[in-house]
Formats: sequence, C-alpha cells, structure tokens
Amino acid sequence: MKYDFDQEIERKGTDSHKWQKYADNVIPLWVADMDFVSPQSVIEALHWRVDQGVFGYTRAPRDLAPVIQERLKRLYGWEIREEDIVYLPGVVSGLNLAFQVFAGSQDAVLVQPPVYSHFIRDPLLRGRSVIDPPLIEKNDTYGIDFDAFEKSITDRTKIFVLCNPHNPAGRVFTREELERLAQICLRHNILICSDEIHCDLVYPGFRHIPIATLGREVEERTVTLMAPSKTFNVPGLGCAFAVIRNEALREMWNSGSQGLIPHVNIMGFTAALAAYRDGQEWLDQVISYLDGNRDFLMQYTKERLPGLRMKRMEATYLAWLDCRQSGILGNPFDFFLRKAKVALNDGTEYGKGGEGFVRLNFACTRRRLAEALERITHALQQINV
Ligand SMILES: Cc1ncc(COP(=O)(O)O)c(C=O)c1O
Repeated sequence: MKYDFDQEIERKGTDSHKWQKYADNVIPLWVADMDFVSPQSVIEALHWRVDQGVFGYTRAPRDLAPVIQERLKRLYGWEIREEDIVYLPGVVSGLNLAFQVFAGSQDAVLVQPPVYSHFIRDPLLRGRSVIDPPLIEKNDTYGIDFDAFEKSITDRTKIFVLCNPHNPAGRVFTREELERLAQICLRHNILICSDEIHCDLVYPGFRHIPIATLGREVEERTVTLMAPSKTFNVPGLGCAFAVIRNEALREMWNSGSQGLIPHVNIMGFTAALAAYRDGQEWLDQVISYLDGNRDFLMQYTKERLPGLRMKRMEATYLAWLDCRQSGILGNPFDFFLRKAKVALNDGTEYGKGGEGFVRLNFACTRRRLAEALERITHALQQINV
C-alpha cells in the first residue's frame, strides 16, 4: 500500500493541541506530532474496538509483549523477558515516576541540555535538583564533553536521564559515546533512565543502539522508555512502556506507580499492537517522506535563510535552528510568531544552550513546510528594510 503524505489533513477544529493553541492564521510547527494519517492497520484496529461498543477495564493484548520482544530482538539483538515490560500511559509519566522513585528529595538528576523540557522542569517539580552539563556544539552538530559530564556528578546524583535519539540536538549517539556515558554512570552508581521515544525515526546511515544492550551490568542499571507514539503518530492515544530488567528496580517502580499512574487505556493498547505488528510499511514510507523534508529544509536554509543554521539531523522530525546570526532582535520564537505567523518551539524551553535557537517540527506536508519557510524568509527580509 502506498501512503500519500502530501495529502492535506484539516486539523483545525479537531481539538488538536498543535492546531488549536495559536490563531487560525498561524502555521503550527511546534509540538511533536505529525500532520499525517496513521497506518491503516491502526485505523482498522481502532474501528474494530469501537464497533465492540464496550469499553471496560482492559489489560494489555496478549500479543503485545511478544510483538515488542520480537521487535527489540530483531532491531537491536536485545532479548528481554515479558515481565521486563511495564506499560505506561506516557513516557513523561515514566520520567516523573523515575524521579520520584529512584531519587530522594535532596538528590539530583543529571541531564544534557539543550534537551526536552520535561527533563529539566519535572525533576524540579518533584523537588529534585538538576545537574546540567551541556552538550557541546561542534560545527553543525553536538558532542559530549565527558570530563565535564563526570566532573558535574556529586554524591547526590542518582539518575542520568539520557535522551537518545536526542531531542532537540538530533543526535543518535554512537556505541562509543554510549559506552563512555554508561561507564561513568556505573562508576558513580547512577541509574540510567534512557528516553528512547524517538528511536524508530532514524535516518539512513545512522543506527539506534539502546544503551541497555551494552552489557548485562548496564542493563541492570537502566530503565528504558519507549513508545509507539512518535513512531506511528498516535501520541493522543497514550501508550508507552518501560523495559526494566532488574527485578528490584522493577518492584520499586511498580509500587511507586500504584494508585498514581493509570493503566493504559483500551484504545492505546489496541493502537500499539496494530502499529508494532502491522505498521512497518507505513513507517518505512514516513521515514522516507521525512527524509525528503529534512533535505528540503536543509537546502532551503542554506540557500535562502543565510542568517539561520540548521544542525545536522540524524533522527527525529524536529529541526534545531540556530538564529544567533539572523539579525533578529530579541527572542526568535516571538519574532517568527509575530512577523511570520509560524509557531515554532522557543529554544529557551530546552535549558542551557537553547537561547537564540528555535525548534521546527517538519512532520507536515512539504507544501505546508514550504509555505512556512516562505513566510519566514519574508519576515527576515523585513528586518533590514
Ligand atoms: C524525548 C521525549 N520524551 C517524551 C516525549 C513525550 O512522551 P509522552 O507523550 O509519551 O509523555 C517527547 C515528546 O515530544 C519527547 O520528545
């Protein structure tokens, strides 16, 4: 089946968070969902559920764990047991649970900004502190300063939250980088909470490696968070999972979540199974479309937006644009919203190193992307008039 990602879907008036936040004349290229129809298998499975007409308490479909197990083995050579999988209504719930369960109130969480805002805000919400040795800019990409990373650790540092692939830096960390990070964490007895929600949206030439697959010792100290939500564009259905191999950690996790973290809902489970089992064809095609958008955006930025620099993207549909040389006075997010009527994400949301940047979600039709870029070009041209 050939999917048509050029098809414009009207999302205004559908209670879409992305489309309802800003005025009607704004093109929304911010929050991370795609303006594409999900795989046919997902739509059919949801119809089947709706047609049953009974929406009682539910448990995970019997086939879901085997499908996840088979997938992790096939993609990463990672063999996990069914009991290692713990379902969650969202990855952010999983992050917060980790902060709550594995760090005490005087403890700190280690993160690598500029990074997804919940990594920075949520430990503080839970009364934990944040240690944030930033990624380092290396021309058009980012790397890790391992010495600064290790030096920032104190004896109160309990959790390292890894974002891999990294949002918004666009990196897929290499085996060598992951090994060095893991060794540091093992040396300081720090738990690794690895958010791998973007792991399926990786571009040709790059390979995702779950940090837990580096060896038994690392696996025992890692909680991995994954979900079909970004991959198959089903984030509104709320289904994610943690892989926790270590039984003691899993027990702490389960008792911490009791009464607090709701079960995954019946639609989320239904979509997850259909997506993972039958969505590969769609996924291959969406990656190829996104790859085209990525090239288009990169080329456009180089040729027509000389004041902006786009960081290299190894994964995700979230481009990270450096506006520091653009001549924009003040905050570029505000500028693009006011002058171009394009809603992006403000780089300052992502902590250290985010100032002067915006994040652009290009999971939309190429036509819409082109229109947003035309508006941005025009707004930038007005600066020097
Ligand atoms: C790194 C990362 N983690 C988690 C999420 C959100 O996860 P969920 O909607 O499952 O809570 C996002 C969404 O953009 C993300 O980029």
